[in-house]
Amino acid sequence: MGHNKLTRFAEVATFNNVFQPTGNLEEDKNFPLKGKWHEEYFKNNNPIVLELGCGKGEYTIGLARRFPNKNFIGMDIKGARLWRGAKTAFEEKMSNVAFVRNRIDFIEQYFGKDEVSEIWVPFSDPYPRKGKAEKRLVSASFVKRYRNLAKPGCIVHLKTDNEGLYQFCMEQVEEHKYPLLVNSDDVYNDAEKLGAERYALLTEIQTYYEKQFLKEGKKIHYVEFVI
Ligand SMILES: C[S@@+](CC[C@H](N)C(=O)[O-])C[C@H]1O[C@@H](n2cnc3c(N)ncnc32)[C@H](O)[C@@H]1O
Repeated sequence: MGHNKLTRFAEVATFNNVFQPTGNLEEDKNFPLKGKWHEEYFKNNNPIVLELGCGKGEYTIGLARRFPNKNFIGMDIKGARLWRGAKTAFEEKMSNVAFVRNRIDFIEQYFGKDEVSEIWVPFSDPYPRKGKAEKRLVSASFVKRYRNLAKPGCIVHLKTDNEGLYQFCMEQVEEHKYPLLVNSDDVYNDAEKLGAERYALLTEIQTYYEKQFLKEGKKIHYVEFVI
């Protein structure tokens, strides 16, 4: 690990807005905030929105600034990336933000039934190879986990540059009959279809990876559905 990464990794451990369960499922069985995020951490009953594979947490921070009456939790396995979002939230004293560093595969250990109202999945790894579909964060195996913590009507937002992942997500929506709210294969040129509010969220908040993809001239795709 480079010096910078190590420093960030160490600093993350000092932030009171970052939780780092062990990833050992036996030990994490007693993760103290599971089912108690509202009472024990946010101290309110506002909806909880997750950003999965959040990297530097641009959606967590960007949405939390716009929606002070919602709570946001970014989740990623990489602590040195989470550091960016966590530091911003810490410096700006954002009380509606937290981060969890661990694998999304273990998400059911960290959130309880009916605890989550919405899930953002920006630029997740597409796992293009055959036989790897189960690793995609919108695959049925992940949606099954999400349903164990989702409130009825929980919305999933997938934003991606990857044509294959976009198509896969649309196929999942059709196959599992998830109600589709909207989709776009070219977000930046679909203002009318997306509507002003959604278009603003999708174009004004840009993630680190998205900025690289935009520079490369790639189209950005989006699917919004209910699980
Ligand atoms: C391509 S990056 C995108 C990061 C960020 N959303 C962005 O758009 O800049 C994918 C991120 O997902 C995280 N990730 C992928 N699979 C994960 C998993 N199963 N559990 C936790 N994090 C995961 C990676 O560590 C990485 O930060």
